[in-house]
Amino acid sequence: MRIRLWTHPSSITPLTGTRGTPYKQQLKMRLQDACRAIGGKMANYEIIDSTVGLLCAIYQGARVKQSTLGEGCVVGNFSRVDYTELAHKTRIDRNNHIFQAKLGRFSYTGINTVIMHATIGDFTSISWNVSIGGADHDYQRMTQHSFLYSDHDGIRPPEQAIAYDRFTKPITIGSDVWIAAGAVITRGVTIGHGAAIGANAVITRDVEPYTIVVGAPAKAIKKRFSDEIIAALLELQWWNWPVEKIKQHYDLLANKPELSALQQLLRENKND
Ligand SMILES: CC(C)(COP(=O)(O)OP(=O)(O)OC[C@H]1O[C@@H](n2cnc3c(N)ncnc32)[C@H](O)[C@@H]1OP(=O)(O)O)[C@@H](O)C(=O)NCCC(=O)NCCS
Repeated sequence: MRIRLWTHPSSITPLTGTRGTPYKQQLKMRLQDACRAIGGKMANYEIIDSTVGLLCAIYQGARVKQSTLGEGCVVGNFSRVDYTELAHKTRIDRNNHIFQAKLGRFSYTGINTVIMHATIGDFTSISWNVSIGGADHDYQRMTQHSFLYSDHDGIRPPEQAIAYDRFTKPITIGSDVWIAAGAVITRGVTIGHGAAIGANAVITRDVEPYTIVVGAPAKAIKKRFSDEIIAALLELQWWNWPVEKIKQHYDLLANKPELSALQQLLRENKND
């Protein structure tokens, strides 16, 4: 089913709710209001064959296609979210293209970011102008052009299957990772939990958990914490806690981790 939504171009109030009749009625009323308010001049956003959770905000010009959005997600102006799963409270900023990806809860992006065919954990912070998983054009063939796999150009004979899959190498990014502005993550890499990727870094190799990498090609410059603390954090996996537990331990999360406190928490968790 295809639902095309039209809203007032100057309205910044997002529509809320789920698919289904009540939601569609709400949208229809918005459409009528918008048409009255602007005398026919309209801007749009689209939700196509998708499931959109409660309290999601889809901003104008955005398109969500064959995707599943958990509760409270945001899709900013002119972003495209295609064939993607966004978990609870995921935020996609403006002018993003998210294609065949999976983002865990509370993860978010900045403006102008592109993510293709990647699995991203929870609470991961992705800045602006970041490129994750751009397609690998096969430079060993005579042409590198997209007509070998895209229908758009109309050159590939219709009876021919696509020449190759440009997304075969997987990308896995852990939880609580920070990817700074302008970073490029090439296909086939794994970035461990808690890693920090410096501005404009080009990631061509795996990044160990809690490691800070910079440059092109990126190299590790340091670890965020001592090996003992990293081991405890990887065991604790706070990003898997229920939100209530995260709130309860806010002070711990907001300060430099102390080994004794982490070990105490690990003991408590074992006794739970
Ligand atoms: C990676 C980063 C977090 C490291 O910060 P830091 O721990 O304070 O690092 P330092 O300033 O001590 O730098 C350590 C070394 O790495 C180099 N370096 C730091 N960041 C670099 C980067 N992005 N690219 C290349 N080299 C970098 C420094 O020049 C320094 O080299 P030197 O030892 O030869 O002098 C930071 O530099 C960075 O890239 N921040 C991104 C900010 C951003 O994009 N924010 C967007 C909003 S999310």
